[in-house]
Amino acid sequence: MTTTDSGRPHLHAALLDPSDIHIQRCAQALQSGELVAFPTETVFGLGAAVSQLGAIEGIFKAKGRPSEHPLIAHVAPGADLTGWVAELTATMHKLMNAFWPGPLTLVVPKGERMPFEVTGGQTSVGIRCPSHPVAIKLLKATGVPVAAPSANRFGKVSPTRASHVLAELGDRIPFILDGDVPEVGIESTIVSLLEDQPAILRPGAITAEQIEAVLGVPVKSHGEVSKTPNSNPRVSGALEKHYSPDAKVWVLPAGELAALELQNKTLCVGWTDEFLAQADALREKFGEVLVEALSDKPGEVAKALYATLRQADELACRQVLFEKPGQTPDWEAVNDRLKRASA
Ligand code: TXA
Ligand code: MG
Repeated sequence: MTTTDSGRPHLHAALLDPSDIHIQRCAQALQSGELVAFPTETVFGLGAAVSQLGAIEGIFKAKGRPSEHPLIAHVAPGADLTGWVAELTATMHKLMNAFWPGPLTLVVPKGERMPFEVTGGQTSVGIRCPSHPVAIKLLKATGVPVAAPSANRFGKVSPTRASHVLAELGDRIPFILDGDVPEVGIESTIVSLLEDQPAILRPGAITAEQIEAVLGVPVKSHGEVSKTPNSNPRVSGALEKHYSPDAKVWVLPAGELAALELQNKTLCVGWTDEFLAQADALREKFGEVLVEALSDKPGEVAKALYATLRQADELACRQVLFEKPGQTPDWEAVNDRLKRASA
């Protein structure tokens, strides 16, 4: 990394539109041990070929992430998993047929070809087949699984735009592939198949109920998993504080807005008429209040969530007041991310 006279780093990453030539170029970069950020349907990933151990180490350096945290290995639809996972079980087949390509990561015993550098030293591996067309083309062209955490600095909000990746990692990586905005907007559901009962390690767009319907057996919900002490300390998304913008995040029902005394610039984000009306009233009273209205569907809130949290930082807001969602299963993933953003 070189620096300017002012001491600020030069941006080095090439931001590439996803033409076939650029995708080929990025696949070659991955094969030769370079890092490539790319879009998926959940969030942008920071990729390295699993066979390139120097590049795997580079992921941890670029993110500032502890190296014992395991990475998710991404594969193309129909990829041969032999050697990458220990065994293709009937349960895996059912879930892969139902949800791949898509936002579901399976944690399963690793195969002998999967390096321990990818799995954080564990004998299990997280594996997923993304559905974003650019990710699929890139994975097909690369020909080996691509380890990719979210392309943000450790502890920060996951990126849902190439511009987010450029801002956080542009001085640390050579290539950023652009592509359509992620449809899902929050990280994949992670289900562990390591014990008799499948368990949700991280909630996401695919719910425990959907998995139960496919497998025909009960699935341990994320709520149950997180009640067991140290049950999944290796999931960095399970750290209390994660997915945080610089602004302080508060999650509040509409009824509590009226009583607030606001001094700092505040972004209010909600979807019910009641919340938005209360937020407007705050704006009239305190001036420096911005109001952002989202659609009231959990999937739409998830899709907009991270860009909205980043916007608070871009607008130099000191705090974000986020409408408290319902406590039903369809809101579980959004509630989980909001809880961590506000911790
Ligand atoms: O949607 C996603 O999953 C995105 C996109 C880029 O695919 N990726 C992502 O990666 O969210 P990351 O590294 O930010 O989160 C992956 C999570 C981590 O919390 C990690 O600890 C967990 O997956 N994980 C991976 N392998 C695991 C394993 N063998 N056992 C337990 N947890 C595992
Ligand atoms: Mg992450």
